[in-house]
Amino acid sequence: MEFQRTVLVTGGCGFIGSAALLDWVPRHPGIRFVNLDALTYAGNPLSLSEIEKARNYAFIRRDLRDPRAIRQAIADHRPDWVFHFAAESHVDRSIAGPGDFIQTNIVGTYHLLEACREFWSNPEGKLFHHVSTDEVFGSLGDEGKFTEQTPYDPHSPYSASKAASDHLVRAYGDTYGLPFKLTNCSNNYGPRQFPEKLVPLMILNALEGKPLPVYGQGLNVRDWLYVDDHVDAIWQVAERGRFGETYCVGGNCEMRNIDVVREICRAVEDLADLPDRESMITYVKDRPGHDWRYAIATDKIESELGWKPRETFRSGIRKTVQWYLDHPDWVDSVRSGEYRRWIESHYGHRGVPA
Ligand code: NAD
Ligand code: TYD
Repeated sequence: MEFQRTVLVTGGCGFIGSAALLDWVPRHPGIRFVNLDALTYAGNPLSLSEIEKARNYAFIRRDLRDPRAIRQAIADHRPDWVFHFAAESHVDRSIAGPGDFIQTNIVGTYHLLEACREFWSNPEGKLFHHVSTDEVFGSLGDEGKFTEQTPYDPHSPYSASKAASDHLVRAYGDTYGLPFKLTNCSNNYGPRQFPEKLVPLMILNALEGKPLPVYGQGLNVRDWLYVDDHVDAIWQVAERGRFGETYCVGGNCEMRNIDVVREICRAVEDLADLPDRESMITYVKDRPGHDWRYAIATDKIESELGWKPRETFRSGIRKTVQWYLDHPDWVDSVRSGEYRRWIESHYGHRGVPA
């Protein structure tokens, strides 16, 4: 059967990319999905075991930092749509070492854009959807929300690298006519998130009775969105959003970090039948340059596309805790390095299945 379209997803083995593929591959059997991922520490092919044999799914191990490999991948697979998820995504890692963030998020995005520019001489039917973060807008005080008009003011090497990639995507639209759409989204949580980010780290530590390290006084505020709601927003923007436009995506769910952690404690106590977890909260040294508050206005995507988040934090966090309880193998593999060996035996060093 001829596929109606080929969709390239970069970073499909990561947290949000895997949620997207697990939803989209079975939902759109007439579309061929190609997942391009370098399998860094954050990319776990086990996250995609449910779809790895689907006839409309293929995996290619390629690194965005390698321009020849990216050009060849675009030449071979001729995607109509590209969803660019792949990135180095953790703020604390970017503080410890910004180099990979510059190389993957900025230079890697440039390589992907160049390859699309070369192979998309006719933009008809083409789409470059750039997945970005609200952290590019900087930090809010106690009032107000980010909108599509908020000027960029990134503070961490991570957010600065994402801001640069957003600018490049828009510049390719303005200069070369690249048919792009861009989404800036708030903090995601849900299944399959690498346990270095706040939510999965706290869930696993709470399950294992380890300290729950809260930065500073835990009063910084983030807006939280369940990952499946984000995936839904991205698809709706891709299908019905306007080209050359940006859409802010958020959960309308602002919470102080300490309240997030307390809610996680309650869910863990309840679902794992464990005694008091809150006493494990430990206040630790604050993150340097820690953004105070993020909040995002979703009026544009709601009024233009009718998108709204479905999950509340309470319902979403319970699903998330339950997922980690049900998937000890995934957790063990990520932690033990076993999956790194598995990657090498399945995909070899150059990404070719053994
Ligand atoms: P993640 O760190 O879980 O996954 C990143 C994926 O990209 C991994 O599979 C990794 O192997 C791959 N990757 C990294 N470097 C690569 C390279 N050089 N070449 C090819 N693949 C590479 O990230 P995530 O949380 O799923 O985030 C996905 C996207 O969404 C990112 O662009 C991020 O900036 C954005 N975003 C994330 C959040 C969030 O809360 N997690 C919120 C808003 C936006
Ligand atoms: P994180 O999940 O790293 O996302 P981001 O920095 O992109 O918002 O952190 C979310 C919030 O939680 C942020 O304010 C930092 C804080 N935090 C902690 O208090 N303790 C931790 O161990 C981590 C990882 C984060």
